[in-house]
Amino acid sequence: MKKTSSRKIEHINICLEKEVESDYTGLENVTFIHNALPEINLTDVDTSVRFLGWEFSAPVIAASMTGGHPDTKMINRNIAIAVQELNLGMGVGSQRAAIEDRNQEDSFTVVRDFAPDAFIYANVGMPQVREKGIEFVERAVEMIDADAVAIHLNYLQEVIQPEGDIRASGCMESIKAIAREIRVPVIIKETGAGISRELAGKLKRTGISALDVGGKGGTSWSGVEVFRAGEDELLKELGIQFWDWGIPTAQSVVECSEFIPTIATGGIRTGIDVAKSLSLGASICSTALPILKSAVRGAEEVKKTFKLMIEGLKRAMFLTSCTKVDELLEVPLIITGRLNEILTQRGYDVIQLSRSRKHERTY
Ligand SMILES: Cc1cc2nc3c(=O)[nH]c(=O)nc-3n(C[C@H](O)[C@H](O)[C@H](O)COP(=O)(O)O)c2cc1C
Repeated sequence: MKKTSSRKIEHINICLEKEVESDYTGLENVTFIHNALPEINLTDVDTSVRFLGWEFSAPVIAASMTGGHPDTKMINRNIAIAVQELNLGMGVGSQRAAIEDRNQEDSFTVVRDFAPDAFIYANVGMPQVREKGIEFVERAVEMIDADAVAIHLNYLQEVIQPEGDIRASGCMESIKAIAREIRVPVIIKETGAGISRELAGKLKRTGISALDVGGKGGTSWSGVEVFRAGEDELLKELGIQFWDWGIPTAQSVVECSEFIPTIATGGIRTGIDVAKSLSLGASICSTALPILKSAVRGAEEVKKTFKLMIEGLKRAMFLTSCTKVDELLEVPLIITGRLNEILTQRGYDVIQLSRSRKHERTY
């Protein structure tokens, strides 16, 4: 069985070299109504948001990716420099490798060294939390002096990868215990297959603080595992069959944001994607693959990637006459095609939704 650390670097290389994305976020079916005369100035647009008590200059952060192998230190360092400078935030990748082997810690602690003031969230996998409990989570938080912790759900990947941990019973109780005992906010985070309304409701009752939908339409972890299956024809074939499995990001954002502050992740690639996700109800967005691709080329490249997204968001806000991010919840949208069908079948009044997403929120 491969060590966690070497598996981590294999994943990075596959994501950099192969086509690993899935086919549909649902944002393709969301269109803003262009306002030909916005009656505000582009300079009036304020992209700042508050999330989990933190102030961000814009609603886009780097999603959890890496650490746990010496070659990943530079990637985390470059992302950290960018988020510190731009007043954004980031998640580190799963800290399991460094909890198992302290020699790997500095590929994570580098993040705090270079982003002393930014919002940084720790990352642990559901299978390890289920098995090892609160101490494991506390170690991850302490290691990087984290401001929050994400527990990631990746059962789609677990059922396709050779080393997969396929035990998921009893997880809700573990989450409840962690949410009760840990001193930082807990985020439950999918990794590319989305979270449903039914699950979001149950998770809210555990006392967690936020959900990261990690929806379908961006990096597919079933897809990544296809490239690791090697001679294992069965897993390779299953990986192909499940490549596009999951709840599209747009659907998952609508379903989760009814209950709890929600991060839109999964195929967020442009400022327009960010604007659409916020308009559908997300509190903030995060993105992984584009940040990885720029982080291997340096901190300046990461900054460029973020700036392009933020400038795109600003222009989408200007052209819909929004000076504040919250106003996106009330701009009219057109919701067509597959997303319209999905939401209708899930019981939403799509006409109503297309007019406003400012529901009576309990958060
Ligand atoms: C190279 C790479 C490594 C990742 N590792 C982790 C991880 O360790 N923990 C985690 O919660 N998510 C991990 N993710 C998942 C991302 O946080 C994100 O949910 C997913 O990639 C979808 O976003 P994207 O379409 O913008 O890539 C990883 C993603 C990438 C690309």
